[in-house]
Amino acid sequence: MKKIAVIGSGVMGSNIALSFAINGYSVTLNDVKEEFLVKAKSRIEENLSLLVEENDVCEGKKKAALENITCAIDLKKAVIEADFIVEAIPEVIELKWALYSKLSEMIRPETIVASNTSTYPLSRLTEKSSFPEQMVITHFFNPAHLVPLVEIVQHARTKSEVIDETMELIRDIGKSPILLKREVTGFIANRLQTALMREAFYLVKEGVASARDIDTAITAGPGFRWAFTGPIEIADFGGLDTWQRVFDNIAPELDNSKEAPALIREFAEGGKLGVKTGEGIYSYTGEAVSQKLNQQSRDFIQLRKIKRL
Ligand SMILES: NC(=O)c1ccc[n+]([C@@H]2O[C@H](COP(=O)([O-])OP(=O)(O)OC[C@H]3O[C@@H](n4cnc5c(N)ncnc54)[C@H](O)[C@@H]3O)[C@@H](O)[C@H]2O)c1
Repeated sequence: MKKIAVIGSGVMGSNIALSFAINGYSVTLNDVKEEFLVKAKSRIEENLSLLVEENDVCEGKKKAALENITCAIDLKKAVIEADFIVEAIPEVIELKWALYSKLSEMIRPETIVASNTSTYPLSRLTEKSSFPEQMVITHFFNPAHLVPLVEIVQHARTKSEVIDETMELIRDIGKSPILLKREVTGFIANRLQTALMREAFYLVKEGVASARDIDTAITAGPGFRWAFTGPIEIADFGGLDTWQRVFDNIAPELDNSKEAPALIREFAEGGKLGVKTGEGIYSYTGEAVSQKLNQQSRDFIQLRKIKRL
């Protein structure tokens, strides 16, 4: 499998294209406007330059990766020769269905179509697709060229060879795929993350500590370990008898609300949306945000090296 098409060149699509291109795959990147593709190509180039600065790739590999990416505004041209298509258009079901309807006229029976959806179950996506057995979800995490995890989600009608080929391809681009055996809302990583964030916002609301200290409790504590040891293995290492007591003592005290934390709702309704408006739980100035994102990317590149990925 050599030819990849990525549809949607935004935050996720551009870096998914980069992930394939840097590993030698020929990628066609598609979007609805030429200017979006130009922007995506310059984002990809910037990200490659950072990888060069951090000695993760050499100039030659950067050049080859850029040469592996072709932009095509014409959908048919973008997908006609593709063996594997990643759909990374906005999370609007009608848009996704409309795209699948167009694709049905353009793809071959052996082409795999993978959605990068973060919320829709595959059975919902395929409700209006004429090729459900060729579809799968490949859920990359932002920034897609640096975070190793890709969640692979199937449904009852996905062909087993589609799953096998997808797992192999995702491994081949240096990622760490995990396979969900059945459909579940939010997949796995976002369920775990949301459970933790519910408790973090509860602790802020209860005035137990400052937001900064609660964040540090994770980044300097469990989060420091989690890059290498997952929560289930941590239970084994700590001793299951100990963890039984921890759960019995702490679980009854945990927040168990069924909706977004009041603090998030209050801020969102007041137009304080975080980085994008300059004000959220913390305050941000434009310069500080770009510096932080740049430093975060450099840290992720180094962490990947430590994890030997
Ligand atoms: N942003 C994240 O952190 C994140 C993480 C994981 C998954 N996702 C999922 O990935 C998908 C894409 O999200 P994003 O954040 O990259 O969105 P985005 O808005 O940054 O990019 C979407 C791109 O798709 C283009 N587009 C829209 N309709 C199109 C069409 N019919 N054909 C071709 N291109 C089209 C848009 O012009 C835009 O450039 C969504 O399903 C989202 O839920 C996002």
